[in-house]
Amino acid sequence: MGGLNSAAAAKITEICARYKDERTPLMMILSDIQNEYGYIPLEVQELVSKETGISVAEIYGVVTFYSFFSLTPKGKYIVGCCLGTACYVKGAQNVIDKFSEILKIQPGETTEDGLFTLDALRCIGACGIAPAVSISGKVYPKMSVDQVPKVIEELKKEYQEKEGA
Ligand code: FES
Repeated sequence: MGGLNSAAAAKITEICARYKDERTPLMMILSDIQNEYGYIPLEVQELVSKETGISVAEIYGVVTFYSFFSLTPKGKYIVGCCLGTACYVKGAQNVIDKFSEILKIQPGETTEDGLFTLDALRCIGACGIAPAVSISGKVYPKMSVDQVPKVIEELKKEYQEKEGA
């Protein structure tokens, strides 16, 4: 959103206006902003506060409580490594460590090029194929440390092809 330019500010004002007749509009407003921009930084929360009269403290509380909302931009690919019990005993920690090492980010962080966000997840319901990794909705079964570099390379290639780079 880059410092909340006037187009973004106008869009957020418009989103707030959409729900002005709702008694509890906050979740709807924040969901629309999250879907539109992928994250809800502080300056956006301040604008929502100004438009709705809801305090920044309350807005901040909601944004940080629900994992669906994010304060920071997410990468094009969200690499979610399950660290639930079944995955953990099958070596999931080594898998996430490998992603972390190659991407040079910690869980919760996004690479500088904006391509990857690394997340540590609880059980994603795929224990039978542990350790499971979910990347932007696709589940990779029985992930091993050796597979990690290849998966990253494939995603980079896929992105370049998509972008025509
Ligand atoms: S513990 Fe990882 S999918 Fe269930």
